[in-house]
Amino acid sequence: MTHHHDRLLIIDFGSQVTQLIARRLRELSVYCEIHPYQNVSESFLEEFRPKAVIFSGGPDSVVREGAPRPPSAVYELGVPILGICYGQQVMMQDLGGKVEGGKISGGGGTAEFGRAFVTPTSSPLPILKGWFASGKEQVWMSHGDHVSELAPGFEVFGVSPNAPFAVTADQNRNFFAVQFHPEVHHTPNGKTLYENFVRLAGFTGDWTMGAYKDDAIDKIREQVGDKKVICGLSGGVDSSVAAVLIHEAIGDQLTCVFVDHGLLRQNEADEVVSMFRDHYNIPLIHADETELFLGELDGVSDPETKRKIIGKLFIDVFQKHANEIEGADFLAQGTLYPDVIESVSFSGGPSVTIKSHHNVGGLPEKMGLKLVEPLRELFKDEVRELGRELGLPESFIGRHPFPGPGLAIRCPGEITREKLEILRKADAVYIDQIRKHGLYDEIWQAFVAILPVRTVGVMGDGRTYDYACALRAVTSVDGMTADYYPFEHEFLGETATRIINEVQGINRVTYDITSKPPGTIEWE
Ligand code: XMP
Repeated sequence: MTHHHDRLLIIDFGSQVTQLIARRLRELSVYCEIHPYQNVSESFLEEFRPKAVIFSGGPDSVVREGAPRPPSAVYELGVPILGICYGQQVMMQDLGGKVEGGKISGGGGTAEFGRAFVTPTSSPLPILKGWFASGKEQVWMSHGDHVSELAPGFEVFGVSPNAPFAVTADQNRNFFAVQFHPEVHHTPNGKTLYENFVRLAGFTGDWTMGAYKDDAIDKIREQVGDKKVICGLSGGVDSSVAAVLIHEAIGDQLTCVFVDHGLLRQNEADEVVSMFRDHYNIPLIHADETELFLGELDGVSDPETKRKIIGKLFIDVFQKHANEIEGADFLAQGTLYPDVIESVSFSGGPSVTIKSHHNVGGLPEKMGLKLVEPLRELFKDEVRELGRELGLPESFIGRHPFPGPGLAIRCPGEITREKLEILRKADAVYIDQIRKHGLYDEIWQAFVAILPVRTVGVMGDGRTYDYACALRAVTSVDGMTADYYPFEHEFLGETATRIINEVQGINRVTYDITSKPPGTIEWE
């Protein structure tokens, strides 16, 4: 745990939107961590020393015996607490109020889902500063149970038609509790409420990327000492930012291993090598294993088999090269915050699925390596910001995601060198078109897939019999769901013409208009 910054603790009771609370606070330059309620003990609180605490919402019912609760010591810390939805109910019950199970209809405190409007009661409340300019404020409710009697010391500061206790507070202790979710988009002024809360708690907004970088460098030096670190580079943003940051901290004690499976895009391997080796002077092993990977993939057309072969070879190759680096004690990984949050899971299963390919999971123990994960506290967009802070070029930081198995999963059916070469050229033309039309940053991911079919065409006076390809472009927030990008017909026509004219081997271009679901972003 770093203690350089003021810290806010979010106790997670299992809400779907707990991560959004962290987002809102990070936007306010406040450092916060989410911890599941089970892990928050009295000793944890002593060690963590939060300057304020937020209780998240959650799906359980506080009236149920054994429902999630925070340790009672949290109320003795003397710091401001904000309870949200379930967090409000648990606070009220812990401090001597009453909560009732949900009624679905009827007045005076019922189950409520969706948009609602809160109006103020007579006295103002510091955390509502800036609210009610138009007399009322839109909020988003999602609760079954409701508070039916306030705990001693609490008063009401806002009501909605179905929530007589929409905003409550004990101003002497700086305990605040709201029935709605200020972190979601549908509570438009929610950020102001968080801002008021953190200012009242004394946060100065010192969580800047510059400060983070300096801290992270100190921490890496402290952890690694004079030992050596190995970092697997994929050419993606996360591992690259991790590598440059670690290099800034420990210089040549870092060696990067770049496993080149021969399934990268046009010029990609050269760009990675020249950026890291030449520009940053980072010791880099370029493991060009194209022959090995393509050899093992020869004749394989089943998508899952392809993935398994690539995943296994990747680990073997990485391990082989890592073993050559004498005396390495640490393995660096670009693990991000969303991968490490132990979300409260009521279904029993883990709520985060980590992508298999680039997660060299299991390797550290097998090789006796300790982990360095300097991005563990960051969200994806914060990693990009850190990359900028470290001087990585914008063209690199803003790049579309690229899957671990690379072009293998954009080449349905058997993979051949010929097809890969055609695919690389077509993809380069397509991306060039997108950049020229200024559309690159509007699109989450765009690529070409080469189809396992030849079709008849006519060019000049001759008949052609060449491959067909599909263009794919989607918008998305997190890759979990996606919409196809609505290009102008003119753009599609121009791009098809360019590909057919410039790329020998393709005589037909189609555009994939499938959303996810039911499709996936990649073709395999
Ligand atoms: P799908 O095709 O499942 O892809 O809709 C969702 C996102 O994940 C990327 N993807 C991968 N990334 N290893 C990765 O690192 C993989 O095996 C992998 N498969 C898919 C895909 O490019 C998209 O951004």
